[in-house]
Amino acid sequence: MIIAVDGPAAAGKGTLARRLAGTFGLPYLDTGLLYRAVGRRVLDAGADPRDVPAALAAARALQPADFTRADLRGPVADMAATAVAAIGDVRAELLEFQRRFGREHGAVLDGRDIGTVVFPTAEAKLFVTASAEERARRRHAELLARGITADYAQVLSEVRDRDAQDENRPVAPLRPAADAMLLDTTHLDADAAFTAAMALLAAKLSSHGA
Ligand code: DC
Repeated sequence: MIIAVDGPAAAGKGTLARRLAGTFGLPYLDTGLLYRAVGRRVLDAGADPRDVPAALAAARALQPADFTRADLRGPVADMAATAVAAIGDVRAELLEFQRRFGREHGAVLDGRDIGTVVFPTAEAKLFVTASAEERARRRHAELLARGITADYAQVLSEVRDRDAQDENRPVAPLRPAADAMLLDTTHLDADAAFTAAMALLAAKLSSHGA
């Protein structure tokens, strides 16, 4: 079984997807980490993350250790990931890894294009959203909790900027699949979002006879 969890940054996808994976006994993949790791490699090489050959070379060179680096989060990593994620050749390079991951034992995958491109035939697709202000509030609190000084207005502007780039890129833009179930977490905490997601999934999977 494949459960696709897509949506914009800081909507609560990761927390929800990890918990769903535990509940269903499925492996979990945070596909954003792939793009973050590619972005970091490009920066390490001293190149611009918008540089297509440099980004493609970084995607081809990815190693498991790249996914456990300590510097995959934060504004610089965010921007580098968003830039490399807009490059079609990079996306194509990462596609097979994601499909192989899900094909072996089933999986819960979170990202932007899991339900539209990576697994268009997933048994269940959730599209998780929240207002930009609420997502910026969460991201801001997360940064402060990690000891990173951040300005809310700046975080909000970065959230909007990344949304615009993810939604408007020509390849695999962020959008709900036609058969995705929408879950707005603006007014839900993590527990309430999980309960709501389980109700949507129960309805969907029982209609599949699963
Ligand atoms: O989910 P995240 O914030 O870690 O994602 C980092 C960047 O990678 C973000 O700009 C969106 C992009 N991304 C993507 O284009 N497709 C995915 N499946 C996952 C992430």
